[in-house]
Amino acid sequence: MPDLLLLNGPNLGTLGRREPDIYGTDTLADIERSVAAEVADRGWGVVAVQRDSEGDLIGAIQDAYETVGAIVNPGALMIAGWSLRDALASYPRPWIEVHLSNVWAREPFRHQSVVSPLASGVIAGLGALGYRLAARALLSLVAD
Ligand code: DQA
Repeated sequence: MPDLLLLNGPNLGTLGRREPDIYGTDTLADIERSVAAEVADRGWGVVAVQRDSEGDLIGAIQDAYETVGAIVNPGALMIAGWSLRDALASYPRPWIEVHLSNVWAREPFRHQSVVSPLASGVIAGLGALGYRLAARALLSLVAD
């Protein structure tokens, strides 16, 4: 079965109880289920990986070159995660960057992304819905 990579970075494993006023009440498991539901009709599965360290995220990307595409929330690594950026540069499939919150409406230190220039698209500020929309985007971007 073709798989989509759903990659979440530092601190996203605590969604649901992490600053719910900013990130919402959906857990990461809820989000993983919603993405799986979006792509099921296409016959895709989801490989869901959440890691708090950059090296582990890089390993997950290197192990996922066979996936059809990826949804990536790099968390704060968007700001200066140069090694993550380089790993994504070698990822051979389309990928969408997602942020639950609208980082552009938040503190200035969140207004830089070293990974966005490589993404096929960026979704921010739509909460958990952003992941489902990213899955739909990949359904359109990836040819059978
Ligand atoms: C985030 C935004 C980042 O600034 C923050 O560090 C996160 C979550 C988001 O999904 O809104 O960890 O990526």
